[in-house]
Amino acid sequence: MQAAMSQIVMSGDVNGANRLFGGKLMQWIDITGAIACRRQAGGKHCVLHIADSMRFMEPVSMNDIVTIEAKVTWTGRTSLECRVESTVESGDGTKRLVNVAYMLYVCVDDEGRPTPVQPFIPKTEKEKAEWKEAVKRRKIRIEREEREDRILNQR
Ligand SMILES: CC(C)(COP(=O)(O)OP(=O)(O)OC[C@H]1O[C@@H](n2cnc3c(N)ncnc32)[C@H](O)[C@@H]1OP(=O)(O)O)[C@@H](O)C(=O)NCCC(=O)NCCS
Repeated sequence: MQAAMSQIVMSGDVNGANRLFGGKLMQWIDITGAIACRRQAGGKHCVLHIADSMRFMEPVSMNDIVTIEAKVTWTGRTSLECRVESTVESGDGTKRLVNVAYMLYVCVDDEGRPTPVQPFIPKTEKEKAEWKEAVKRRKIRIEREEREDRILNQR
């Protein structure tokens, strides 16, 4: 399942260095990712649980056209991962990649409890390869959370 949005960077979107504020791009990434996940979930709410690998590769300037594209890469029982790519369009129509993010959402019911999500079935070779990588990322996230919990419990 996919979703996309485009934005023109306005004066209210930039930081003191006159570049796109990272938090604004994160907002657009989250919205686009949530839409892709909600579509996968057949309209059920999906809440952001973990945002990782959010890599800001190049600065984005005022008046640039930014396109954010999200694609579901993996589903578990209640959680879904999506890859979100942000690109900036040049005057000649070429695009440069400025951010890649992997986001984990959880499908929830009206009470906010995790609820089963419609499975995503990878079909193309690219989707199957991305799924395998998503399984590896899931393992890393779980290990990271266990480590963080141990640190929190030591306080
Ligand atoms: C997201 C939320 C509903 C999860 O609740 P929870 O009780 O921790 O849920 P569970 O332990 O049942 O986990 C739910 C899913 O997340 C997955 N998950 C949880 N922690 C994970 C981790 N560190 N790495 C990978 N997956 C993880 C679980 O495996 C499960 O997925 P699965 O059913 O596909 O296996 C809850 O933490 C929440 O409401 N958080 C706030 C969300 C929010 O408001 N987001 C907006 C940003 S402010």
